[in-house]
This record gives sequence, C-alpha cells and structure tokens, in this order.
Amino acid sequence: MGRLIRFSQILCLSFMLLQFRVQSSSPSQSSLDSPPHLCRPEERAALLDFTSTINLVEDCFGGPRPIIQTWSESKTAACGRASHATSRTVIYNYELRGNFLGSNWSSLLKYFYLTKTSFLGELPHSIGKLKLLEELNLNSCQFYGSIPRSLANLTKITYLDFDSNLLQGQIPDVFRKMHKLTHLSLLNNSFGGEIPTSIFNLTDLTHLTLSSNKLIGPLPHYISGLSFLQEFRMDNNFIKGRIPSWLFSLPSSSFLDLRNNRLTRPIDNVEMSNLILQEVDLSNNEISGSFPSSFFHLVNLARVDLSSNNLSGTITPEMLSKLVDLRYLDLSNNSLLSVNNNDTSVYYSFPNLSSLRFSSCNILKFPSFLRKAESLLHLDISKNNISGQIHKWEIEGMSLYTLNLSYNFLTGIDSFGFGNLEIVDLRSNLLQGSLPILSATWDSMQQLFISENNLTGEIPSSYCNLTSLIVLDLANNNLG
Ligand SMILES: *[C@@H]1O[C@H](CO)[C@@H](O)[C@H](O)[C@H]1NC(C)=O
Ligand SMILES: *[C@@H]1O[C@H](CO)[C@@H](O)[C@H](O)[C@H]1NC(C)=O
Ligand SMILES: *[C@@H]1O[C@H](CO)[C@@H](O)[C@H](O)[C@H]1NC(C)=O
Ligand SMILES: *[C@@H]1O[C@H](CO)[C@@H](O)[C@H](O)[C@H]1NC(C)=O
Ligand SMILES: *[C@@H]1O[C@H](CO)[C@@H](O)[C@H](O)[C@H]1NC(C)=O
Ligand SMILES: *[C@@H]1O[C@H](CO)[C@@H](O)[C@H](O)[C@H]1NC(C)=O
Ligand SMILES: *[C@@H]1O[C@H](CO)[C@@H](O)[C@H](O)[C@H]1NC(C)=O
Ligand SMILES: *[C@@H]1O[C@H](CO)[C@@H](O)[C@H](O)[C@H]1NC(C)=O
Ligand SMILES: *[C@@H]1O[C@H](CO)[C@@H](O)[C@H](O)[C@H]1NC(C)=O
Ligand SMILES: *[C@@H]1O[C@H](CO)[C@@H](O)[C@H](O)[C@H]1NC(C)=O
Ligand SMILES: *[C@@H]1O[C@H](CO)[C@@H](O)[C@H](O)[C@H]1NC(C)=O
Ligand SMILES: *[C@@H]1O[C@H](CO)[C@@H](O)[C@H](O)[C@H]1NC(C)=O
Repeated sequence: MGRLIRFSQILCLSFMLLQFRVQSSSPSQSSLDSPPHLCRPEERAALLDFTSTINLVEDCFGGPRPIIQTWSESKTAACGRASHATSRTVIYNYELRGNFLGSNWSSLLKYFYLTKTSFLGELPHSIGKLKLLEELNLNSCQFYGSIPRSLANLTKITYLDFDSNLLQGQIPDVFRKMHKLTHLSLLNNSFGGEIPTSIFNLTDLTHLTLSSNKLIGPLPHYISGLSFLQEFRMDNNFIKGRIPSWLFSLPSSSFLDLRNNRLTRPIDNVEMSNLILQEVDLSNNEISGSFPSSFFHLVNLARVDLSSNNLSGTITPEMLSKLVDLRYLDLSNNSLLSVNNNDTSVYYSFPNLSSLRFSSCNILKFPSFLRKAESLLHLDISKNNISGQIHKWEIEGMSLYTLNLSYNFLTGIDSFGFGNLEIVDLRSNLLQGSLPILSATWDSMQQLFISENNLTGEIPSSYCNLTSLIVLDLANNNLG
C-alpha cells in the first residue's frame, strides 16, 4: 500500500505542470537524453522560495497537500533541464489546481511554464517582480481578469504565451520595453478594444498570434518593427478598417492570416513587395474595391484565400500568371469579381496551380486560358453566369479530378473525353439533348451530378460500364 502511494506520488510529480528552471543553461543546449538532473542547492532554494508563494488548491489525487513538501521530496521532477519542447509537452495536468493569491514572487525565476493545468484566478500585480523571467507560458489554464500593467517590467522576456485562458479587457500597452520578445501569443481569450501599437514596433518578434479574441483594431498605418516576424495571425476578431500595405512588405513574413474579421476598405497598394510571403488568408471580411495590381508582384504566393468579400473588377490571366508558385487560389463569393478571358488564343501553364475556386463570382465565360494548366486538379466555377457551350478545345488539355460547373447557364459541353475526372457537378444548367456518351474506358468517374437540366432521351448503356461510379444524379430532367 505504502509503495502504491509512493508510486502514484512520483507519477503525479513527474507530470507536475509547474516547471522551474533557474539555472543558466539555455533551453536549446539541454539534451533530451541526459538523465534527470537534481536541483543544485541555489536552484532548490529559489524553487522552494517561489513555491512557498503559490497556493495549491489540490494535487492530482484530490487531497490538498503543501506543495513545498512535495517539491522538496521530489528533487528530480521539479528541476528537470528539459529542452524547451519537452517542457511544453510534459506539462499536461488538468487535475492540478491552484492560484496565485497573495503570491510573493521570487525574482530569480527565468522560465515559468504552467500550461494545461487548472490553475485559475487573476494574474497578480506582483508578476512584475519576476524581472529575470525569460519565458512565461500559461497556455490553457483558467486565468481570468486582465493583464496586469506590471507585466511591462519583464524586460528580459522572450516568450509570452497566454493562449486559451479567460482573460479579457484591453491589452495593456506593456510591450515598449520588451525588446527581446520573439513570441507573443494571446490566442483564444476575450481581449477586446484596440491593439496597443507598441506590439507593432517590437523589433525581435518572430511569431505574433492574437487570433480568436474580440479585438477591433484598427491596424496602424505605419509601423517600425516586425522586421523578423515570420507569422502574423489575427484571424477571428472584429478588426475593422483598412489592410495596410506594410502587411505585405514585412521582410521575413511568409504567413498572413486575417480571416473572419470586419475589414472593409480596399487593399492598399503594395508599395514594397515581400518576396517571401507564401500564404495570405483574408477570407470572410467585407473587403471592397479591386485588387491593386501590385498584389500580383508578391511572386512567392502559393496559397491565397480572399473568398467571401466584396471585391470587384476583373482579374486577367496575365495578372495571375505572375504568381508562378501559386498552388491554391480561392476567390469565391465575391459577387462583383470577374475573370477576363477575352483573348482566347492565349493560354497559360500555371506550373504549380492545383486548386482554383471561383464559385459565386461574376464570370461570364469558361476560363479557357486554363486549358493547358496541366497541374490543375480542382476547378470550381459554380454559381456564375457562364452561358452557351463549352467547346472541346477549351477544356481538353486539363487533367482535373474535380470540376464544378453547377448553377450556370450552360447549354452544352462538347467533350467529356478527358482523363482523370472523379467528380463532375453540372447540376442546374440548361443542358439540352441526350446525356453525354461516356467512354467505357473512363473508369475514374465516381460522382456525376447532372440534375436540374433539360436533358432528354434514354440513359446510354455505356453508363452501366462505369465501374467506379458511386453517385449518379439525373433528377429533374426530361429523361425517358
Ligand atoms: C517577499 O519576499 C521578499 C524577498 O523574497 C521578502 O523580503 C519579503 O518579506 C516578502 N514579503 C512578504 C509579504 O512575504
Ligand atoms: C516595475 O518597475 C518600476 C520601476 O522599476 C517600479 O516602480 C514598479 O513598482 C515595478 N512594478 C512591479 C509590479 O514590480
Ligand atoms: C479556448 O479556450 C477555452 C477556455 O478558455 C477552452 O475551453 C477551449 O477549448 C479553447 N478553444 C480552443 C479552440 O483551443
Ligand atoms: C511605432 O512606430 C511608429 C513609426 O515609427 C511611430 O510613429 C509610433 O509612434 C510608434 N509607436 C509606439 C507605441 O512606439
Ligand atoms: C459570402 O460572403 C458574405 C460576406 O461577404 C458572407 O456574409 C456570406 O456568408 C458568404 N456566403 C457564403 C456561402 O460563404
Ligand atoms: C460592395 O462594394 C460596392 C462597390 O464596389 C459597394 O457599392 C457596395 O455597397 C458594397 N457592398 C457591401 C455589402 O459592402
Ligand atoms: C482584353 O481586355 C483588355 C482589358 O481588360 C483590353 O485592353 C483588350 O483590348 C481586350 N482584348 C480584346 C481582344 O478584346
Ligand atoms: C513551381 O513550378 C516550377 C516549374 O515547374 C518549379 O520549378 C517550382 O519549384 C514550383 N514551385 C513550387 C513552390 O512548387
Ligand atoms: C448573373 O446572373 C444573375 C442571376 O441570373 C443576374 O441577376 C445577374 O444580373 C447576372 N449578371 C450578369 C453580369 O450578367
Ligand atoms: C458544386 O458547387 C455547388 C455550389 O457552390 C455546391 O453546392 C456543390 O456541393 C458543389 N458540388 C460538389 C460535388 O462539391
Ligand atoms: C427543354 O427542352 C425542350 C425541348 O427540347 C424545350 O421545348 C424547352 O423549352 C426546354 N426548356 C428549357 C427550360 O430550356
Ligand atoms: C460494357 O462492357 C461489356 C463487357 O466488358 C462490353 O461487352 C460492352 O460492349 C460494354 N458496353 C458499352 C456500351 O461500352
């Protein structure tokens, strides 16, 4: 029995979410393979000094126990010199509850990880006393209230993560002296109001995540920092106003996510193109106006999602063809946006393009400039105003897997004779005559929707030889 208890204690401690490292070795130097380290006397003293100021409500096994005692018993768990990554993954114990009420913090602490526990309460003002703190990670706890202004005193901080708590209020302007901050993440709280501009002037920041809050912005016109920023995440807020040009000019940034906000103004002219930017997601805003043509100078773009906005004007194949690395483009649900395809003698190869979504735009003609886009696998131009016939030459060079032409005004399609198609949606058009004859060798077809057209005649027997076919929807025609 005694053995059992001791075993469970050890188990509990080894999962203890509180991680303290007061030694000077940098996290990246430490090794995963080395045996657990014992605390050095001064580390131990600092640790105990600190833990005596934390109020542990209950431990993993339910019984309240003075935390100082458990830690002094456990010389190994508490002072592990785990690597940065290890300390973040080991730390996982929702059973552990506590709070910081009346804490008298030690000023020796450098790394403080308390992620995925049930620690709760407000962050104490005295957090500003941890002046040597370099990393603070309170990800997925239950802290509430606002960020104390005293946080501004943590001038050595490099890593700050308050993700998934219940924090709220305006983000205080505490960043002016955090010159070493590289990682700032406040994801999934209830922060509201404006964003302190000092965040945008941070010089060493590489990762900025303010997603899933209630921030209203706006984004500042000019900034002086973020030269090393790699990822900018501010999706799922209520950010209003314009999309400033600097967002596309950050010299190190490859990723920009502002989807699900309230951005309304046209995209600013991109004054200085960043040639690193690969992914831009501005979907689900209310962005109006046309693309500035300078947008197409961002030649490294690989994934662009601007769907569900109010963009207008015309995109020409020439513009698109400048984005030679483009893999994925979604412009769906911009009801005023069209793709001009007036010179049918020209085609483009788009060497990397695999997915193109133009559903619910204002396209009047099948984009035949794509006919040699050999890497294109998915094409969605449903819910547009494409009328008439699609000719064989317009489509036969493609090797699509999915083609969605539903909800247009097509009266005919010359040819189905092309290769790999698995899913074809032609529902709700004006297709007339008999069903297209499908080649019996065409064994890739899995789903074919031609309902809500004006087809007549009988179902050709060749359809019975389409062995891969899973869905055949012919409803609402005049088939015999
Ligand atoms: C807080 O800690 C400091 C030194 O660590 C000590 O001098 C001071 O008395 C403590 N205050 C309280 C209220 O415990
Ligand atoms: C922050 O630092 C300033 C100046 O060093 C000091 O006056 C203030 O009391 C500090 N706040 C906290 C919470 O330590
Ligand atoms: C957001 O935070 C809440 C608690 O604050 C948590 O319950 C929820 O799972 C988090 N959501 C995500 C997507 O992480
Ligand atoms: C940030 O930098 C801009 C441009 O240099 C400057 O106008 C602004 O005052 C700065 N803001 C803060 C809060 O430092
Ligand atoms: C289309 O975009 C508008 C916003 O521009 C949005 O409200 C609407 O839900 C979107 N529709 C679809 C089907 O995504
Ligand atoms: C969409 O943009 C047009 C101008 O391009 C404007 O007239 C219209 O009011 C905008 N619609 C919405 C819902 O913002
Ligand atoms: C195609 O459209 C562009 C502008 O969108 C225009 O300048 C050009 O003259 C047009 N070409 C033809 C053949 O209509
Ligand atoms: C795009 O295609 C070109 C030519 O095929 C190729 O050299 C390049 O590596 C591709 N880029 C990406 C990001 O795949
Ligand atoms: C596209 O079709 C819709 C629905 O039939 C119609 O309201 C709209 O005026 C058409 N737009 C153009 C540019 O033809
Ligand atoms: C084709 O597009 C329509 C309208 O956007 C959509 O409802 C339908 O599910 C799509 N078809 C397939 C097979 O995904
Ligand atoms: C459907 O086709 C029949 C005869 O082929 C024609 O009389 C009728 O007008 C067509 N209906 C529509 C909606 O095009
Ligand atoms: C269907 O397949 C059978 C057997 O493979 C073949 O005899 C028949 O001619 C095919 N029918 C059509 C219409 O291709």
